Amino acid sequence: MGVCRLAMDWPIIGKCRNRLWLVVLASFLLWLVLVCFYYSAPMVGDNFVKSVNFGDSNSVFSPGNSNESINELLGTNFISEETDFVKPAKDTNGRDLVVKNRDAAKNSYNPFTNFSAGDYGRENFDQIVTEVYPNNQTYIAENEVDQSINGVSSLENAEKPDQKRFKPDEKRNEKISKDSCSGRYIYVHHLPRGFNEDMLRHCQSLSNWTNMCLFTANMGLGPSLADSERVFSKTSWFATNQFLLEVIFHNRMKQYKCLTNDSSMASAIFVPYYAGLDVSRFLWYSNTSMRDAASLGLVKWLRRKPEWKKMWGRDHFLVAGRITWDFRRVREKDSDWGNKLMLLPESRNMTMLVIESSPWDNNDFAIPYPTYFHPSSDNEVFRWQTRMRRQKRRYFFSFAGAPRPNLQDSIRTEIIEQCRASVGRKCRLLECRDRANKCYNPSHLMKMFQTSVFCLQPPGDSFTRRSAFDSILAGCIPVFFHPGSAYVQYLWHLPKDYTKYSVFIPANDVKSGKVSIQNILLRIPKAKVRAMREEVIRLIPRVIYAHPRSRLETLEDAFDITVKGVLERVERIRREMREGKNTSYAYEEEFSWKYNLVGTTVGEHEWDPLFARP
Ligand SMILES: *[C@@H]1O[C@H](CO)[C@@H](O)[C@H](O)[C@H]1NC(C)=O
Ligand SMILES: *[C@@H]1O[C@H](CO)[C@@H](O)[C@H](O)[C@H]1NC(C)=O
Ligand SMILES: *[C@@H]1O[C@H](CO)[C@@H](O)[C@H](O)[C@H]1NC(C)=O
Ligand SMILES: *[C@@H]1O[C@H](CO)[C@@H](O)[C@H](O)[C@H]1NC(C)=O
Ligand SMILES: *[C@@H]1O[C@H](CO)[C@@H](O)[C@H](O)[C@H]1NC(C)=O
Ligand SMILES: *[C@@H]1O[C@H](CO)[C@@H](O)[C@H](O)[C@H]1NC(C)=O
Ligand SMILES: *[C@@H]1O[C@H](CO)[C@@H](O)[C@H](O)[C@H]1NC(C)=O
Ligand SMILES: *[C@@H]1O[C@H](CO)[C@@H](O)[C@H](O)[C@H]1NC(C)=O
Repeated sequence: MGVCRLAMDWPIIGKCRNRLWLVVLASFLLWLVLVCFYYSAPMVGDNFVKSVNFGDSNSVFSPGNSNESINELLGTNFISEETDFVKPAKDTNGRDLVVKNRDAAKNSYNPFTNFSAGDYGRENFDQIVTEVYPNNQTYIAENEVDQSINGVSSLENAEKPDQKRFKPDEKRNEKISKDSCSGRYIYVHHLPRGFNEDMLRHCQSLSNWTNMCLFTANMGLGPSLADSERVFSKTSWFATNQFLLEVIFHNRMKQYKCLTNDSSMASAIFVPYYAGLDVSRFLWYSNTSMRDAASLGLVKWLRRKPEWKKMWGRDHFLVAGRITWDFRRVREKDSDWGNKLMLLPESRNMTMLVIESSPWDNNDFAIPYPTYFHPSSDNEVFRWQTRMRRQKRRYFFSFAGAPRPNLQDSIRTEIIEQCRASVGRKCRLLECRDRANKCYNPSHLMKMFQTSVFCLQPPGDSFTRRSAFDSILAGCIPVFFHPGSAYVQYLWHLPKDYTKYSVFIPANDVKSGKVSIQNILLRIPKAKVRAMREEVIRLIPRVIYAHPRSRLETLEDAFDITVKGVLERVERIRREMREGKNTSYAYEEEFSWKYNLVGTTVGEHEWDPLFARP
């Protein structure tokens, strides 16, 4: 286009034509050199397109091509975020059960608006792996154990190592005053193996649709990802499953600087129970007693420990790597969804960390979903940030995901329509409809996020999605449609001022067809977009989990920030208990979201209607 305009400016056409040819020739040569230089690997499909530089980050894909050929170049295979998956069609029994369960779950936790958590069961089918990951054989072999599993078999053979070490007459405050770990000591409970290790040993039984043994490998990071498409860095990328956070966190905890074997010195007590893996074994084919068994066993075990009595569990915390709705079954009906871990009186005293928390409860706290990047050093992070800053972004906005046709208030259909209709193909759509599509290819997904300016993050079956964190990792500015998708969730990890790093477009406006997403985004000044992207890139260390065998040197990762958040919370509660107050629990729990967001539950808030419970 530039060349054309140039040509118009020249008075003498002939001269122009010569120059035009020169320019064309020169551009072609330059392009050829660039391609050869950048890609020594064979040029096929995506690589071919990627090597072409389409100008500044806001420019869209070069016009003039028909959409078909573009699709062909980019690979027509749809991909999706990992939370979107469809269960194998053959499993009709399971599906019926899930639909039933979903309705029951809906009734029992009363989602406030229709687009929140409706088609909820589907989200919870574990990922289906359609990709063959490198070295899968090795990992399976490592984990090969016998098939039979029975939850907490070794529960009663519980270890008793900590009994002796505990000194009831602790003088905690004196002891910890001097060293650098002061106030940061963590004691890890030695749980019976049935609560954690055994689940990994019987990884085949964790899911009927996914070989979880692939994903429990590498300390919960999953198989390492080869960088065949030059989307990742050479090392530290893994095909991490979004539900393995509890394993990653536990392994990371083993490297925590301020561990203590003396629970009387500890500021907080970590309970390494794999709550998510546990419940995922029983979400679909089971009765409530099977689903609750291990959770009930756990709290029974905890209550008997001397550590419990010190603060009635208020200093205990655990990580459940699933969304909170999997642990909040209100009734005892088998058709209701999930177990009741979060509702147990003991759990109500603990700090429960989940990947999506309840806006209406005060004992669970959201921490980031795991992404694919698990660096071992600061430098790896810095290099990645630099790369994301320089990244050319030829799509203005993009969406990866599946529609939710059964969910009346889902805005996914509208999002997909708006994306398809985007003027000048400003939007890139990666739609996941069934297993046949390459929906779960981390490389395709990350490539799309890396080449997009904005990434749309509408609610799916629940408020949150892993995709939000993948897009932050890729330096793509997230666009949220409900405050429950991030702003009232990851309070320790994301800035309070959400306008600094994201765009908020109310879902109702999209649903009613009132707004054009593209127009809203286009109206944001370029300088503001740049500032937001810089903020997103700055957030990267805070939302990634470093490789569990190491810790970062100066940077704080999601684990560090989580531990800090827990320690501060426990310290506050400890102080209040000492002073005979309980202000942390003084507010109306139903308004937890508001309390967490603005520090008080009174006063009107513009989001009140969005969090109104019927
Ligand atoms: C472009 O895409 C639209 C909608 O997907 C389709 O109807 C149309 O035929 C395509 N155009 C070409 C030239 O393939
Ligand atoms: C959900 O949708 C139904 C049917 O459209 C409607 O009657 C109901 O009021 C909606 N509920 C909420 C909380 O918006
Ligand atoms: C493992 O990889 C091989 C090819 O290397 C493939 O044939 C096989 O299906 C894979 N197994 C799983 C469980 O993914
Ligand atoms: C705790 O005890 C175990 C076994 O006795 C030992 O291996 C470990 O190093 C100790 N940890 C700390 C932090 O002292
Ligand atoms: C897998 O399916 C069988 C029944 O076909 C069921 O007994 C079992 O509990 C299921 N396991 C999981 C993890 O869903
Ligand atoms: C639940 O299922 C288990 C295993 O099938 C069975 O032993 C138990 O009796 C059932 N409990 C109830 C209350 O139905
Ligand atoms: C929870 O903590 C309170 C004190 O804050 C205590 O009275 C209560 O017994 C605890 N609950 C359990 C199950 O320990
Ligand atoms: C302490 O917390 C409980 C709920 O855990 C609440 O019912 C009670 O009123 C609170 N007491 C004070 C003095 O705030």
